[in-house]
Amino acid sequence: MNNTELIKKLNKERNLSEKEWIQIFDTYDEEDLEYAMDMAHEITVARFGRKIYFRGIVEFTNVCRNDCYYCGIRAGNSNCQRYRLEKEDILKCCEDGYEHGFRTFVLQGGEDPHYTKEVMTDIVRAITERYPDCAVTMSIGELDRDFYQALYDAGARRFLLRHETADAAHYGILHPKEQTLSSRMRCLKDLKEIGFQTGCGIMIGSPGQTSEILAKDMMFMADFKPEMIGLGPFIPHKDTPFKNEPAGSVEKTLLVIALCRIMLTDALIPSTTALGTVEAEGRQKGVLAGCNVVMPNLSPMEVRKKYMLYDGKVGTDMSAEAGIRALRSQMEEIGYEVIVARGDFQKR
Ligand code: 5AD
Repeated sequence: MNNTELIKKLNKERNLSEKEWIQIFDTYDEEDLEYAMDMAHEITVARFGRKIYFRGIVEFTNVCRNDCYYCGIRAGNSNCQRYRLEKEDILKCCEDGYEHGFRTFVLQGGEDPHYTKEVMTDIVRAITERYPDCAVTMSIGELDRDFYQALYDAGARRFLLRHETADAAHYGILHPKEQTLSSRMRCLKDLKEIGFQTGCGIMIGSPGQTSEILAKDMMFMADFKPEMIGLGPFIPHKDTPFKNEPAGSVEKTLLVIALCRIMLTDALIPSTTALGTVEAEGRQKGVLAGCNVVMPNLSPMEVRKKYMLYDGKVGTDMSAEAGIRALRSQMEEIGYEVIVARGDFQKR
């Protein structure tokens, strides 16, 4: 079968064999990409309309105990100026976000031991009590199952934890040996079992990623059925071991987005900041490839430049308000209406 036939097959069967996935990643051309994007976009419009969900993201700490080789806030980066937002600061970000119409708050941070189970659940509870009409999404890495459960009990309903790669050896290229794929998978399984709408995902073009590995990622996602999928190009950061590695391509990122959309038609897929960083119109292209979410930054101006996962991150020189305005007009330019409702995952 040629690639367009494989993409048709994916649309019919919602999965492909390992060999078929590898073929697509090895041999796709411009036409295949366009075909996949058009199909994915059509599926998204039929399912969600020309609407895009907005989520407000609060980057509340850049302290991290991990040393991921790709990430600018890794523990080993002594050039990174660390900060923490306390409860009141975080609530202030939510208040601003609420006024702008946001009904989902994403709390993202490094794996920072300061935020113990008690501290974190107290913050989550304060947000859900103050904003009972809002969803709280956590993106704070690997934790014990009872920590996850406590977050759920405090009212958080969604959790983002990219698996980064479904190949154990590749996971070992991206992380020090203390971090393992099996631990990451244990977390994802726990999160699903507890009842979180769970997000996984990968960087496209991370060092060592091959077509075989991407095939494994697709097969993992076909099986795991994440409610949310985070996808963006790898972008080097100057203070990491991967500083001289090339960035992932916009085209390949769009291909993976489109294939994920065709495979998991109900999923919430954000058009990521990383995609908007490698290309000015990246986030618009993401939407045209099947994304249905964007996540404007609600973090205070003073800390934005310190939450640099990769070089050149867009939006760090803008206020929350300006960032929202810019994203909104980008979406309107391509004929999309911004939706600020909770926008929970719904299976059809
Ligand atoms: N380039 C692109 N994405 C990155 N992330 C971390 N570092 C980088 C980078 N250099 C992504 C990871 C992580 C998410 C929060 O950000 O996939 O899960």
